[in-house]
Amino acid sequence: MNTSTTASAQAAYDRDACSYDGRTASYQKYRRETVGRLPVQRGDVVLDVGCGTGLCLGMLRDKIGSSGQVVGIDESPQMIELAAERAADHDWDNVTLVESAVQDAEIPVTADAAVFCATHDILQSRPALENVFGHLQPGAWIVASGGKWAPAWKVALNFYLLSVHQPFVRSFEGFDRPWRLLDEFVEDLTVDDVAFGGGYLALGHVPTVAADA
Ligand SMILES: C[S@@+](CC[C@H](N)C(=O)[O-])C[C@H]1O[C@@H](n2cnc3c(N)ncnc32)[C@H](O)[C@@H]1O
Repeated sequence: MNTSTTASAQAAYDRDACSYDGRTASYQKYRRETVGRLPVQRGDVVLDVGCGTGLCLGMLRDKIGSSGQVVGIDESPQMIELAAERAADHDWDNVTLVESAVQDAEIPVTADAAVFCATHDILQSRPALENVFGHLQPGAWIVASGGKWAPAWKVALNFYLLSVHQPFVRSFEGFDRPWRLLDEFVEDLTVDDVAFGGGYLALGHVPTVAADA
């Protein structure tokens, strides 16, 4: 399988940003399930890491209310411009957007939770995770979801997954267990298979006390 997709992923986020929502519409039910699992409450602050065009922003805002805050981070100017339009159209004045690579982002809050929705490349980056986890409260909740390889014997499903994710994934490295690095930062990470093993949904939290305390 050719899994070298750097150029096509860039195009999907920059040149083709306008068609992103339509192309990923079938993933919306998993976005809903991902955000739905997050045990946040009114007034909480949540990071939407790799927020793209902002398809999770409204669902997050519904959970944390007008007294909470959502900070979306994305490096693609085209994707984040669409997220900003979405926020402006809905008068979401408690949504802040940061246009930056996650690893370099100046995150203006210490958050109660973080969402990684369909963000395979970010989850493979230790510097990106270090920056995010440096801006989370002890005990903060983390939810992550996305595609992953199904068991090897599901050959047809894995070819389908390759074609579906290729436009949006820069490298398939780690696609067998996308939460591997996250597991180092998160306590009690539980991972559920979804979509017949072609996807996952992971939930856990930042330790409440330092590991060496
Ligand atoms: C598949 S999209 C997911 C967007 C959104 N979370 C959703 O559910 O539709 C992945 C997003 O991550 C962004 N991204 C990838 N690597 C990044 C990085 N290192 N820093 C910031 N954003 C990144 C891309 O620009 C893209 O918008």
